[in-house]
Amino acid sequence: MKLFYWLYSCFFASLIFGIDHMRNVLSEPEQSGEQYYSMSTPGLVSLLELEFKFISNMNDYANALEQKLQVLRSALNAMDVERAKAQLDKMQYVSNPINSFSLIRRLHRDWKKWQVYMEQPLGKEQMAFFEQHRHNLPTDKDMSAVADAIHRIQTTYFLEASDMASGLLNGKQYNTSWNALDIYTVGKNLYNTGKYKDAIKWLIEAIEWLKRHQLPAPLGLQMTTVQLDYAQSLIQLEQYSDALELLQSLHIDESSDPEMLGLKNKTDEIIRNLYQLVSTSPNTINNNSTTSSPSSYLLGCRGKFPAHPKLYCKYNKTTTPFLRLAPLKMEVLSLDPYMTLYHDVISLREATEIKELATPILRPTTVDRNGSNVVSKVRTAKGVWFADDYKEVIQRINERIADMTGFNLTNSEKIQVISYGVGGHYGVHGDYFEGQADSNLLHDNRIATVLFYLNDVEQGGATVFPRIKRHVLPRLGDALLWYNLLPSGEPDLRTRHAACPVIVGSKWIFTKWIRVKEQFRIRPCHRD
Ligand SMILES: *[C@@H]1O[C@H](CO)[C@@H](O)[C@H](O)[C@H]1NC(C)=O
Ligand SMILES: *[C@@H]1O[C@H](CO)[C@@H](O)[C@H](O)[C@H]1NC(C)=O
Ligand SMILES: *[C@@H]1O[C@H](CO)[C@@H](O)[C@H](O)[C@H]1NC(C)=O
Ligand SMILES: *[C@@H]1O[C@H](CO)[C@@H](O)[C@H](O)[C@H]1NC(C)=O
Ligand SMILES: *[C@@H]1O[C@H](CO)[C@@H](O)[C@H](O)[C@H]1NC(C)=O
Ligand SMILES: *[C@@H]1O[C@H](CO)[C@@H](O)[C@H](O)[C@H]1NC(C)=O
Ligand SMILES: *[C@@H]1O[C@H](CO)[C@@H](O)[C@H](O)[C@H]1NC(C)=O
Repeated sequence: MKLFYWLYSCFFASLIFGIDHMRNVLSEPEQSGEQYYSMSTPGLVSLLELEFKFISNMNDYANALEQKLQVLRSALNAMDVERAKAQLDKMQYVSNPINSFSLIRRLHRDWKKWQVYMEQPLGKEQMAFFEQHRHNLPTDKDMSAVADAIHRIQTTYFLEASDMASGLLNGKQYNTSWNALDIYTVGKNLYNTGKYKDAIKWLIEAIEWLKRHQLPAPLGLQMTTVQLDYAQSLIQLEQYSDALELLQSLHIDESSDPEMLGLKNKTDEIIRNLYQLVSTSPNTINNNSTTSSPSSYLLGCRGKFPAHPKLYCKYNKTTTPFLRLAPLKMEVLSLDPYMTLYHDVISLREATEIKELATPILRPTTVDRNGSNVVSKVRTAKGVWFADDYKEVIQRINERIADMTGFNLTNSEKIQVISYGVGGHYGVHGDYFEGQADSNLLHDNRIATVLFYLNDVEQGGATVFPRIKRHVLPRLGDALLWYNLLPSGEPDLRTRHAACPVIVGSKWIFTKWIRVKEQFRIRPCHRD
């Protein structure tokens, strides 16, 4: 019996071990740091919790230092008293055997002990903690992704670098701001991606910040480093004499660290080259900042579409018997293409439940590139698919969608829950399949999309339809329904739409894509 039990638990242990091993392999991208932190708010919360741990670890380290310091200080105080006595008359001091014995004993033993104490490494545990969590830190990719997101918010909503840096976002002042390193990092990222004009605004802002405040020394951002990047940006924009003037005004202290010496050498070389450029080309300030009028997409995101007449609001009781009992509040946004906005079709409790189900299993969303799914800058969000019978709440919502739309959801797609993070967006796209898509997909195209909003978004994050100039702000419990196909079955290009970048807030939605094949008997005809 015992043997059996032993074998049994061994079997289980190996099973668990096996699964664990498999999970490691499956989640390899995350092991290598590919966690796409900026793509969803739950990921950011885990990062915040990690920072709390780092803070308390550093606090432990500071406490350890303080303790050592206290021991040293109180010992020094006692020694100082003795020294003051001895200094009055050294000869007389040592002629007292009480003093001389003690002196010899101290130098024979105590100072060696002090040496040992001073040599003792401090905060070994805290150093180990850093090492242990290194693999959870954001990668270079994370950093450039979030810097891109900031720039996306800035350009989409036409915000000033200085406003953003001081926490003024789209006209609303938040009680937060950036330091020079934050500002510089955005500028440097723009510089690295060749957007010199935009980079300059951030670099100037970083310089202004550094003039007024100081960063903790270990973080090591030198004013000269920022100024040099500023000068390099000017050179890239062919503003040579401005660059030269800036560089000549730098007072680099050569005697200081080797890094500075390197900078000095670099600067001297740039200046030598600049003299030549300045003499051969005038300082043309390229005024042609092509102020082309903003695209329809941008106007939509900024809430600048003309107000469209409210077609009608009504209670829809006709689709199914269910709706005669529980009529839906709906607002028709457009008749052709057909588009309606339902209100209060999801409760706060349901929304919360869905978010909680999704949070631990979110993965970066992908876009289709020639039949293969890839993570892309066009769509920065995390998502998860829920099978129709995954949980009671999902089943219930699928039934509600069928009731709302009158469509048969058999063989339609799973519900996809999506969480948008920093500046999270999805560029202009159509939900239908077209072109080189798989012929099965083309034959069973997405006749309609239902998009549910699981929360309000404080700023940004609208759904916009640039071609028909419709703009829908996320509101908890609302659902947007539109038809993607023309009566002929061809894609209706007017339904191309986008998720504008979120400015402030955490945007959660889920979508249901309804396929056309099952609807051959029931497809309602709205344009009659
Ligand atoms: C703003 O934040 C600071 C801490 O950074 C805090 O002391 C202050 O009370 C906050 N002000 C408001 C209005 O919340
Ligand atoms: C800077 O230039 C001087 C002379 O041009 C050279 O001796 C020195 O090694 C250089 N230092 C660095 C850090 O490049
Ligand atoms: C550029 O604009 C400035 C004023 O903003 C003007 O003084 C300068 O002449 C303009 N340069 C060119 C080349 O048009
Ligand atoms: C500036 O714009 C004018 C007219 O739009 C054009 O003729 C000129 O070539 C442009 N200059 C530059 C430097 O792009
Ligand atoms: C997709 O594939 C076609 C041909 O197979 C090719 O011409 C096109 O460049 C590809 N597009 C992308 C975005 O890779
Ligand atoms: C109710 O909604 C369904 C699905 O959108 C639609 O087919 C039907 O025409 C609507 N009924 C009314 C009276 O608007
Ligand atoms: C939907 O279609 C399937 C297959 O055509 C059918 O079995 C099912 O009964 C239909 N559901 C409803 C609610 O009509």
